[in-house]
Amino acid sequence: MIGLIGAMAVEMEDLMNKVEDRRDITIGTDKFVTGKLFGKEAVLCVCGVGKVNAALCTQSMITRFAPEWVLNLGVAGAGEEGVSIGDMVVATAAVQHDMDTSPIGDPVGMVSKINLVEIPCDKTLSEKLVRAASALTDVRVHTGVIATGDQFINKGEDRARIHRLFGAKAVEMEGGAVAHACYVHQVPCGVLRSVSDQADGHSDMDYPTFTRLAAAHSQQVVENLLRQDA
Ligand code: ADE
Repeated sequence: MIGLIGAMAVEMEDLMNKVEDRRDITIGTDKFVTGKLFGKEAVLCVCGVGKVNAALCTQSMITRFAPEWVLNLGVAGAGEEGVSIGDMVVATAAVQHDMDTSPIGDPVGMVSKINLVEIPCDKTLSEKLVRAASALTDVRVHTGVIATGDQFINKGEDRARIHRLFGAKAVEMEGGAVAHACYVHQVPCGVLRSVSDQADGHSDMDYPTFTRLAAAHSQQVVENLLRQDA
């Protein structure tokens, strides 16, 4: 069984529509969809936006379904100038950019209890994601840190700060929480993001314009991954 988590319906519905032998299981407010996806046993969930929603969903998924790996997919803002709308970012690690106990001596972004700034993503899964993403035409694929926080970033100065602190290639709102929950349970994790906006002053216009296409691209990568892995 493999686990797939997206924050919003638009980020998951292409895949949801392709699940065969579908069974729905509800835990709290999370509706998990299980069945066969391109020949693989899978569990899928739309977790809702933000770190707590993502962590709760990942925790429930791991304890109830014991997936061999968990992938968080969807859209993101670009983390730097060199990443453009339509590009794909595969995380080598995820950070929680709004975690900050630096006034009492910790590095910015250090996550309490696990004591990490960069929460690692699974190398094998990430390499497979890069291969699966490279099959898309006219899509550039980047690898690097993805930065997560409970904020939609739409100011160039905020993006610049996150990039300066963490070297982020993309900014979003769930990956660092999914990676955190997976790390706690030693479950291999991946974060895959398709860029919907530049996380700058144009994001309020770009995000609604490009989210559907970007979300479709990241779901296509998952289809490629599962077919190449089958
Ligand atoms: N998801 C997509 N675009 C985003 C942005 N600019 N900030 C945070 N999450 C996002």
